[in-house]
Amino acid sequence: MSSKASKGQTPQPNPLNNRTRLIAANWKMNHNHLEGIQAVQKLYYHLKDSDYRFAEIAIFPPFTDLRSLQLLIESDRMSLVLGAQNCYFETSGAFTGEISPLMLAKLNVKYVILGHSERRTIFMETDEVVAKKVKAVFDAQMIPLLCVGETLQQREARDTGDVLRRQVKSVAEACSNHSVSSLVIAYEPIWAIGTGVAASPEDAGSAAEIIRTAASEALGGADMGAMRVLYGGSINGSNAKDFLAESRIDGLLVGGASLEADSLVRVIQSS
Ligand code: PGA
Repeated sequence: MSSKASKGQTPQPNPLNNRTRLIAANWKMNHNHLEGIQAVQKLYYHLKDSDYRFAEIAIFPPFTDLRSLQLLIESDRMSLVLGAQNCYFETSGAFTGEISPLMLAKLNVKYVILGHSERRTIFMETDEVVAKKVKAVFDAQMIPLLCVGETLQQREARDTGDVLRRQVKSVAEACSNHSVSSLVIAYEPIWAIGTGVAASPEDAGSAAEIIRTAASEALGGADMGAMRVLYGGSINGSNAKDFLAESRIDGLLVGGASLEADSLVRVIQSS
């Protein structure tokens, strides 16, 4: 494959708030390593320099794809970033089936998604476990991408603010010795994930404000102005633009629409 120089492809901070946008492609349990290579090659072919300047673009493939994609991205000097979808909080030992944060760091993984609602509901991860994982990812010099969000029932009971405050507080307190402002938080209302029904950009913006305030309060009033908050849940090429125009939202966590290069490119180029 030919290699494009990565010059001129550095993400530029949003002039409205000085934060660098992040578009995170969460493939979940889709694409084996051969399909993953094809998807990234196609994505790379369609992206323009201006896309990389607009936002940092990160791919979160299954663990078994990571090494192949690392080699592809590094050998072709692609301005794409690698992420992982989960990890364990211990660094090594008798934990059959688990992946250490150090193993991910060794593959030049930059971000690790933690506390995704599918992990919380299907795999019973508690706030306490999520907080330990966030701390372990910081310790391994990577950036946690923490997911928070309410169920439909909690939303209808007007509990959204309390749920977000509880989820953010437990992590911020456990990580108070790290630079928590480098944490990325994705507001992902559970009722919006994979349903085709997204939140409104205004609601997502208000949630981002609650999240920043909760993190600041948990850290004794620390300035959280640099902390990035993304929105995720039924993002597609048609609605992405409105979220990216909301100055309190710093990017998107994209599930279904990230699997095909064409639809991910539509999301990235929608603004
Ligand atoms: P979705 O998933 O875009 O398919 O709704 C988002 C996510 O779960 O991260």
